[in-house]
Amino acid sequence: MRTLIRGGTVVTATGTLPADVLVDGETVAALLDPAHTAALSGTVDRTLDASGRYVMPGGIDVHTHLEMPFGGTFSSDDFETGTRAAAWGGTTTIVDFAVQKKGASLQETLDTWHGKASGKASIDYGFHMIVSDVNAQTLKEMDVLVGEGVTSFKMFMAYPGVFYATDAEILLAMQKAAGNGATIMMHAENGIAIDALVAQALEAGHTDPGWHGRTRPPDLEGEATSRAIRLAQVAGAPLYIVHLSARQALDAVTEARDRGAPVFAETCPQYLYLSQDDLDAPGFEGAKYVASPPVRTKDHWAHMWRGLRTNDLSVVSTDHCPFCFKEQKELGRGDFSKIPNGIPGIEHRIDLLHQGVVDGELSPARWVEVNSTTPARMFGLYPRKGTVAPGSDADIVLYDPAARHVLSASSHHMAVDYSAYEGREVQGQVTTVMSRGEIILENGEWHGQPGRGRFLPRGTCQYLG
Ligand code: URP
Ligand code: ZN
Ligand code: ZN
Repeated sequence: MRTLIRGGTVVTATGTLPADVLVDGETVAALLDPAHTAALSGTVDRTLDASGRYVMPGGIDVHTHLEMPFGGTFSSDDFETGTRAAAWGGTTTIVDFAVQKKGASLQETLDTWHGKASGKASIDYGFHMIVSDVNAQTLKEMDVLVGEGVTSFKMFMAYPGVFYATDAEILLAMQKAAGNGATIMMHAENGIAIDALVAQALEAGHTDPGWHGRTRPPDLEGEATSRAIRLAQVAGAPLYIVHLSARQALDAVTEARDRGAPVFAETCPQYLYLSQDDLDAPGFEGAKYVASPPVRTKDHWAHMWRGLRTNDLSVVSTDHCPFCFKEQKELGRGDFSKIPNGIPGIEHRIDLLHQGVVDGELSPARWVEVNSTTPARMFGLYPRKGTVAPGSDADIVLYDPAARHVLSASSHHMAVDYSAYEGREVQGQVTTVMSRGEIILENGEWHGQPGRGRFLPRGTCQYLG
């Protein structure tokens, strides 16, 4: 099948240009001067009219939690509903987190996650591995997983008793990564200090969701981020800070990068658009916004946008981890520390970040770079994914930058009963999504199939030698 995408503006990380795109089978064959494509019309099977629209690489969301066990329940999107919702929002690749249980091997954990995704995913996917049991076998298996295309490992300085790793365990894993080329991804919050603040708050009778934010102060994210950076320096390993939310943590990353350290970080839309005011919503409504790190006071937003412009924040992911308000967030009514942590957002990342383009925070090229190109490079998928170029997978989104729409649980495709952005109007909308040359979404109609998504074995970080 040969498809010609005509009349659009191609947006890549390097800029924008009027160009037609020829897709042959699953890959991009050529970018062509529109003045010279009329002659091709008899040689293609179909032509897509992209006039007035951006033609850009599909989004890559490198931080999702589908069917993730947490706090006695599972995140409400599985690989079928979650990948479909991702595609509706213009994301054509995800990298999801497999979660090692204490006592389980990394290999059996990975096999379990392959089982969750296969037959269900409608877009391509890879896996990171959450390491929650550092021991000799786990460390040995990290080498094996790198060979199987799982080249990144998340560790937690938060959640004592669950995912928490000691500084010594973190150092051992970082040393391993220094040797095998893997990337250590860090959840940087000082969980030991946070647990003390949580106990004090509950003791004083503070049980509302707003206290989730007040017991996880930004300085404890800044402290953990600095500590993770120092541990990585001692181990001689690169470091990727996940879901960075606070100015204090950004300062630590910026300071390290200014010294030339191989430190990278992502933020998420919730840290650009949601705040402690949402956590303090009346009654139990604030539970909808409970995630860790918490959404911050609004003064942090401008720092996150600045970090995205200066590349001290080089990726935007969603940390999509949906829990239904009625049945799941409810577990924490009367005790904020029992509210399942996570915010739904896999469908809205590209639109919310495009609003940043409309508002003058980012250029269109930078928008594509943080949503697609850098995630691909950071996690070993480029140039197969993350750009529109000859030879790349034809994961292509047609995007109308002028269309306006309202985000709402009544229209979204995520399997969750609320929207963290209910009623928010955004400018810009996905109109067509192609995944490896197949149109899976066009003008409001879904054509994707569960199971068509393929596992992507990944290489190592492409920003390092
Ligand atoms: O609150 C969050 N972020 N839930 C998902 C798990 C994690 O720490 O990323
Ligand atoms: Zn985390
Ligand atoms: Zn997460």
